[in-house]
Amino acid sequence: MAKTKEPEPSKQEVLREPAEVQYRAQLAALAQRDADTPPASWKLSPRSVLAYVVGTAKPLSVKIDGKTVDVPITRKFFGDDALVERAIVTLASERALLLVGEPGTGKSWLSEHLAAAISGCSTLTIQGTAGTTEDQIKYAWNIARVIAEGPRPDNLIPSPTMLAMRTGGLVRFEEITRCVPDVQDALVSILSDKNIAVPELPDANMVFARPGFNIIATANSRDQGVNELSAALKRRFNYIHIPVVGDHKTEVAIVRDRSRELLERYKIPARLEEPVLNVLATVFREMRSGMTTDGTSFPKPSTTLSTAEAIGVALDAAIHARYFGSGAVGVADIARNLVGSIVKEDLGDLQVLKEYLAVVAKKRSAKDASWKEFHEAAVKAL
Ligand SMILES: Nc1ncnc2c1ncn2[C@@H]1O[C@H](COP(=O)(O)OP(=O)(O)O)[C@@H](O)[C@H]1O
Ligand SMILES: [Mg+2]
Repeated sequence: MAKTKEPEPSKQEVLREPAEVQYRAQLAALAQRDADTPPASWKLSPRSVLAYVVGTAKPLSVKIDGKTVDVPITRKFFGDDALVERAIVTLASERALLLVGEPGTGKSWLSEHLAAAISGCSTLTIQGTAGTTEDQIKYAWNIARVIAEGPRPDNLIPSPTMLAMRTGGLVRFEEITRCVPDVQDALVSILSDKNIAVPELPDANMVFARPGFNIIATANSRDQGVNELSAALKRRFNYIHIPVVGDHKTEVAIVRDRSRELLERYKIPARLEEPVLNVLATVFREMRSGMTTDGTSFPKPSTTLSTAEAIGVALDAAIHARYFGSGAVGVADIARNLVGSIVKEDLGDLQVLKEYLAVVAKKRSAKDASWKEFHEAAVKAL
């Protein structure tokens, strides 16, 4: 019987490609035009890494197969560029980097792009959980083969940390404060000695890090209390606080860019127009601060209303409009999908949302058609 042939991995469609694959043209263009020398093992110079993360005003002209092509370098992370600069400097230094902030502020996103631009690989990642073990940070053994052959280098299963050490790359450690202190402590020796000892091996029992090796960790400030880092570990990290986007225009830009990219991934040809994005960003900003633009205050909901949450609402609204509506995303689609992201476990938040609708949205509906549509759809959805 003929076997159905699986397509080659490189030709297979992938739901979400890592940054270095998705943005390979931009990374190649930056490498071609790099005017500065990259630090040891880095793919790009610090200036080009910054340009990759925050974008450039003009496209880069590069030569591909003898032809000159303009490659636009898009902005990936929106926020303070000085903060990104500091993150890059830290990664070129002795110390590791810890990005701290509220959930959904783009910490993992920034760490992925930094790893992609600096070491050309963002997939050496450890996900911190209450169940993370020391093996996942250092190394493990293929037990069956160790029983048969004894410990040998090729029976060893390296961790992402070990792989990054061998190549002089970056390892990403997500949600580091979720790990128990014993496991976090395994990092102290890795960060200070820059090596991993493998005492089970008779010889060659040390793995030394090549220049360029470093760690980018992320932690949610809401979870800080879970397992705070030990003083010894704190000293080995530079902390960079990632704030919630406070500026209306920036938030509109993030939601617009990210939802466009995600909708392309799902092959949904919907577009979010400016008035719709404006209402969405306004509701999020006002509910987050408990204060309207014109100074009316109301109680705040207990959930975090992050930019990531706003992107989620925009995406759901567009998918809804595509499958159950006309395809055009209206303010009403936003209103319908908003309720679930504001009212989560705390039913008191329902009251907060009702109050916002009654006090703020209703007042605006008299003068503004978008707000009228928003108010009516939201009241119906409650
Ligand atoms: N400042 C920002 N710039 C760009 N994208 C952002 C920003 N804040 C949030 N996002 C988007 O929000 C989504 C979730 O962010 P993520 O990195 O997972 O958050 P965190 O790790 O901080 O909880 C990502 O798709 C990211 O693109
Ligand atoms: Mg994260």
